[in-house]
Amino acid sequence: MRKKIVAGNWKMNLDFQQGISLFSEIVNMAKDEVLGQQQVVVCSPFIHLHGIAQLAKGVSRVAIGAQNIYFEEKGAYTGEISAVQVKSAGAEYVILGHSERRAYFNESDDMLSKKVDAALKHGLIPVFCIGETREEREADRYFDVIGGQLEQGVFHLSNEAFSNVVLAYEPVWAIGTGLTASPEQAQEVHAFIRDKAAEQYNQDTADQLTILYGGSCNPQNAPELFAQPDIDGGLIGGASLKSRDFIDIAKVFN
Ligand code: G3P
Repeated sequence: MRKKIVAGNWKMNLDFQQGISLFSEIVNMAKDEVLGQQQVVVCSPFIHLHGIAQLAKGVSRVAIGAQNIYFEEKGAYTGEISAVQVKSAGAEYVILGHSERRAYFNESDDMLSKKVDAALKHGLIPVFCIGETREEREADRYFDVIGGQLEQGVFHLSNEAFSNVVLAYEPVWAIGTGLTASPEQAQEVHAFIRDKAAEQYNQDTADQLTILYGGSCNPQNAPELFAQPDIDGGLIGGASLKSRDFIDIAKVFN
């Protein structure tokens, strides 16, 4: 049975107190209402990690994640944060390769593969993001783009290491736009990703791979998206900043 995950990506939102307040709501709702085997993950800005990790103690269905790490162990990298540091603050997951970081901060495939290696080395679960732009979809190049992102970002890993990776398909044209991929569009890409993993590794590894969908996912469209055979949950942006909406998405797997 593949792991089902509903992960919230808070992005660059919420001051210290707002983060604690929102997370407290999420944990309390999760304890009372999330009844299946799904894993709820909250990926917060660095300033919240330690505080929300304390609130999550003893609530196994809610885990904490970071939104980035640098790939070096430690040293003269002003402003950066390492895998060891986020792990020590309570993070279990880390989002890597998000299209916003690829676009705004020029994160190359090579840098991202190093970040994946650093995360795995220190026991973090990478949530590795892949997805095409509007132009790439309209040019019908999305399979090539996504295949390349897999090849360059994670397919260097051993079978054992890859088995610890979560993938997130986030069509860039659906992120923050309200223009969600249709269940058919998302399923087509998720099935392609799973087939590529089967080719690279083996069918069992591919069958166990958790592939999340991200891009304007909300409580109204999540049920049909998550009903698709190769969609194993969501990576949620805007809707994760509202505890009711975020938990309602997680409850789809109840
Ligand atoms: O990482 C998830 C995010 O990119 C999706 O954002 O606001 O479209 O749910 P949103």
